[in-house]
Amino acid sequence: MPRGGPQASCLDRALQTDLPEYLDRDDVDPAVKRSVVRALELTGNWFGLHERFAHIAMEEVADIPDPRILELGAGHGGLSKKVLEMHPTATLTVTDLEPDSVAAITAGDLGSDPRVTVRDMDATAIDAADSAYALAVFALSFHHLPPSAAVRVLAEGTRVADKLLIIDLPRPPSPLHVMRLAAMLPLAPFVPFVHDGVISSLRAYSPAALRALADRAGVDIELRGGLCTPQIAIATRR
Ligand SMILES: C[S@@+](CC[C@H](N)C(=O)[O-])C[C@H]1O[C@@H](n2cnc3c(N)ncnc32)[C@H](O)[C@@H]1O
Repeated sequence: MPRGGPQASCLDRALQTDLPEYLDRDDVDPAVKRSVVRALELTGNWFGLHERFAHIAMEEVADIPDPRILELGAGHGGLSKKVLEMHPTATLTVTDLEPDSVAAITAGDLGSDPRVTVRDMDATAIDAADSAYALAVFALSFHHLPPSAAVRVLAEGTRVADKLLIIDLPRPPSPLHVMRLAAMLPLAPFVPFVHDGVISSLRAYSPAALRALADRAGVDIELRGGLCTPQIAIATRR
């Protein structure tokens, strides 16, 4: 299925790629991957993204006294740090697929917090019991997965958590998308963070694609935002 959804236009279908980001490759110097994760952490701090995403997560567990929260694809753990600051009794399992990221999170503040467990985990095959969590969060990561794996994340996230919150890049209408890509492309060969940003943009799912993926996974999905703001999807079991 195209990233722009089953009815995507020809131009939209041209604005996608199967190329992996540096973060997805095993043949890349680990220092390059770390630089991308570090840039995500810093830009998230500068622009208040981790805090904004944590607020969105908090809204989803507002009625639950001591929520158990699973962060998938945490990268640097910035979102989980903000959740800990905002909620006095939430407990978190902070995870990523990439062993270096898990090691860096473990060595930082989150690794020694009594309310936090840090683990390596694949979002497509989550090592947890059914309904183990009130909320699973997957931020700026869903576009990394091709449709078949994205369907598995939807099924797995809603199996282990009552709600799966996906926050990701929006896929703009094609003319705007071309402009966004044109702004980034000149720096992409030189700056790994921008290289991954271009590929992320080309791989972002549209609302129609998210609905089709949820349908395939057999889960309900509610969508918010997404034109020039982050795309927010809340998936729940049927
Ligand atoms: C762009 S980073 C986002 C990091 C962080 N969540 C943020 O908001 O900045 C994408 C993250 O998804 C992780 N990832 C990719 N595929 C994954 C999978 N199948 N399961 C879990 N994490 C995955 C990568 O290792 C990376 O840390």
